Amino acid sequence: MKNFRKIFLLIIFLTINLPGKSQSIIDPKTIRDKMQWFADAKLGIFIHAGIYSVNGIDESWSFYNKKISHQDYMRQLNGFTLRNYDPAAWAGLIQESGARYAVITTKHHDGVAMYDTRMNDRNILKSSPAKRDLIQPFFEELRKRNLKCGAYFSLIDWSDNNYPGFLKDSSRYKIANDHDRWNRYRSFFQGQIKEINAMFKPDLWWFDGDWEHSAEEWESQKVRQLILSGNPKAVINGRLQGYGDYETPEQNFPVEKPKFNWWELCMTTNDNWGFHHDDNWKTPYEVITIFVDAVSNGGNLLLDMGPKEDGTIPEQQINVLKELGAWNKKNGEAIFNTVAGLPQGHFYGPTTLSKDSTNLFLFLHGKTSGKLMLKGLINKIEDIEVVGEGSHLSHKVVGKISWSPVPGLVYIDVPERVLDPYVTVLKLKLSKALRLYRGQGGLN
Ligand code: GLC
Repeated sequence: MKNFRKIFLLIIFLTINLPGKSQSIIDPKTIRDKMQWFADAKLGIFIHAGIYSVNGIDESWSFYNKKISHQDYMRQLNGFTLRNYDPAAWAGLIQESGARYAVITTKHHDGVAMYDTRMNDRNILKSSPAKRDLIQPFFEELRKRNLKCGAYFSLIDWSDNNYPGFLKDSSRYKIANDHDRWNRYRSFFQGQIKEINAMFKPDLWWFDGDWEHSAEEWESQKVRQLILSGNPKAVINGRLQGYGDYETPEQNFPVEKPKFNWWELCMTTNDNWGFHHDDNWKTPYEVITIFVDAVSNGGNLLLDMGPKEDGTIPEQQINVLKELGAWNKKNGEAIFNTVAGLPQGHFYGPTTLSKDSTNLFLFLHGKTSGKLMLKGLINKIEDIEVVGEGSHLSHKVVGKISWSPVPGLVYIDVPERVLDPYVTVLKLKLSKALRLYRGQGGLN
């Protein structure tokens, strides 16, 4: 009996004290409340602004992968002017796209800070002709428009002399051989995090590069605490070795609904994060279909843009954001403040639901028209409306025997004249909260 008690107390002790993922020691309701705006936001705009835009080369990776020497890479500082930087225009465009938040690089893996860091001179105020802070005026403009402000911060700093990693096949030192040097790096990067937290109070922290070290090495739990102690409502992305609030699948669209509570697909508009000589722009149709897929699977899209060194945004990116915005304006009811749609198998396409699940939204790609089929819907459909267009459509239920629990198949007639140039949305008003049938048939 005594042993049993001891084991019981040990289990309780371990549950409370084990250094594990921070989520387990935080009240899930507090997290849910904090995450609500993020879950409702659906669309964010990512901005990779940095000196790599001067030559139009891979952000940071170009010197790491030895496509250019570190010295030549850093020379780009001399050409970074932000001459035509117009933070109000950036924020206005982001608002027009329908996005509810933006995330901007405060410092990428190259270690060049886009704000006035006091921790070193490697920043655009002291070491480039721009001589100005990129972040503060941008956040001000976002906040005027009620958009949330996210700070991207690279934990990796390949330019700092106390950081072990440098080029792809050579590092400066090993932590095991020089703990003091690593400690100096830790105080440096954590010092920058404190600065950013105090100066800009980001609503969201977007860490990157956590893969180079463990949670213990980064002191992820401490980093999380130092953010939340000054800024308790900050949302933190998952690239903190297990101490973030949400997952960030990159360029990768999951084929089934991810099991995470919150996630965000980050994606480039061409095939690069920063401004680059790359013309493989995604079309508005491609961006909208990817966006819809992410939302229907319960996630957000963080769509990237890479401004030029003078602060102007490439025309193709402006065009995509404007088209996306026009589509959102028309169809936003089916996107914002909704939740993930039907499980796979009921409808051959993406779907979302209103929070009370009395409205079901079906998304039809491209020129999908004719008779659409919906399986396993128990509810009666009271009305079908083409979102943003206004037509009401008829439907037919086949195969429903009155005394059987098996619902029939629903066929909806979609005429070509109601189609959106990109993605058409149908709103099905259901008799009550959604009920689905996924049984075997017969009397089951
Ligand atoms: C990767 C890259 C980085 C880019 C980021 C955006 O982690 O290291 O260059 O900023 O993805 O998600």
